[in-house]
Amino acid sequence: MKLWKGRFSKDSATSADEFNASIGFDRRLYREDITGSIAHAEMLGRQGIISTEESALIVKTLKEILKDIEDGKVEFTVEGEDIHMNIETLLTERIGSTGKKLHTARSRNDQVAVDFRLYLRKETDEIDVLLKELMETLKKLAEEHVETVMPGYTHLQRAQPVTLAYHLLAYYNMFSRDRERFADCRKRINRLPLGSGALAGTTYNTDRQFLAGKLDFDSVLPNGMDAVADRDFALEFLSCVSVTMMHLSRFCEELINWSSVEFGFIEMDDAYSTGSSIMPQKKNPDMAELIRGKTGRVYGDMMALFTVCKGLPMAYNKDLQEDKEPVFDAADTLKASLGIFREMISTMTVKKDSMRSAARYGYMNATDAADYLVSKGIPFRDCHSIIGNMVLYCINEGKALDELTMEEFKSFSPAFEEDIYEAIDVVNCIRAKKSEGSTSFDSVRKQLKDISGEN
Ligand code: ARG
Repeated sequence: MKLWKGRFSKDSATSADEFNASIGFDRRLYREDITGSIAHAEMLGRQGIISTEESALIVKTLKEILKDIEDGKVEFTVEGEDIHMNIETLLTERIGSTGKKLHTARSRNDQVAVDFRLYLRKETDEIDVLLKELMETLKKLAEEHVETVMPGYTHLQRAQPVTLAYHLLAYYNMFSRDRERFADCRKRINRLPLGSGALAGTTYNTDRQFLAGKLDFDSVLPNGMDAVADRDFALEFLSCVSVTMMHLSRFCEELINWSSVEFGFIEMDDAYSTGSSIMPQKKNPDMAELIRGKTGRVYGDMMALFTVCKGLPMAYNKDLQEDKEPVFDAADTLKASLGIFREMISTMTVKKDSMRSAARYGYMNATDAADYLVSKGIPFRDCHSIIGNMVLYCINEGKALDELTMEEFKSFSPAFEEDIYEAIDVVNCIRAKKSEGSTSFDSVRKQLKDISGEN
């Protein structure tokens, strides 16, 4: 029987029931819904809105229902429409008119808002753990590769030599900010909407502060209409998920490149690779490609909810029922991606020698050669053009800069001396970096030391 049937003179169409129902997906909020209802029932009892016996019976029965759901003994129905009414119906079936008192001084609008916030708070905490674990893995890998020299790129063209540790720490920092973003988002998730009624508050002497304390919310949302109508906390969550997926996706793009024969910098473990149904030689980095692909899907989830919300008048509108699936999907996708990504990078083989030999070619020491001339008193712009000419010459001669003879060096500038060879040695190029946060071995060791107490 529909809980709101009183005002209607005939049954709704089965097709309308099916279209309207959210139980197919909001069933996953059963725990949050029961948690919120238990707090509400306790508050009603404390405030004398229902008797303490009634309150206790409702709480006890809700706990039994929770256990039964977890034991797979409960069947939800489309007729029950959503998780809130399904649970209320179960309660009433078990304890009759006492169960019917639970919905005093609350609406489904504040019920769904509190459930969703409780759910997102839990998801945010789980994501935080996964990010923390990934950062641990990255830190460990970086520690192993402080001296692994590799090409650094801009425009995907060889630019300057760096170390793998430096490159990995770049991502470590991105994920560290992702954690900050989620932590910040959590602050706004963790405010209590419950007790707002449908939109205008209620006529009962409720205690929303008690509810906030009971449900571990940091504060009570000060305006009931806002509390039931807005989903900005979910949009913020989706933005955080999108940024993190974007970081993962960039990293995946690099790993895909690096595992090609053209780069040959890494090899994925067989356990995290797939083959081709036709080309026997293939070993494909599918996990990384899928994470990159799923990033698009998560952006879609974010845009979906932004679009749902943009034209809604105050306060609750049924459009808001469309908030859940994109959020569930984005959270599931991020958690799965973080997990598999971590496994993938902790099992891959780094081909240090290929990285190092790639760093020798591509004139990546040209900036250092220019800096060498600066140290001899020549203005940087002139040095830039001298070295540019030298590179062009080397390309035509098929030589690296450090393969030029002293005579050749001198023909470009008399300022060159024997110590140029040392100055443009790839390892020295890295060592010579002095600025804070650079790729120099010392700086990377310091960066690692600075994060050693983190997490
Ligand atoms: N299933 C609904 C949702 O997900 C719950 C709130 C329904 N409120 C209402 N006034 N119809 O948004």
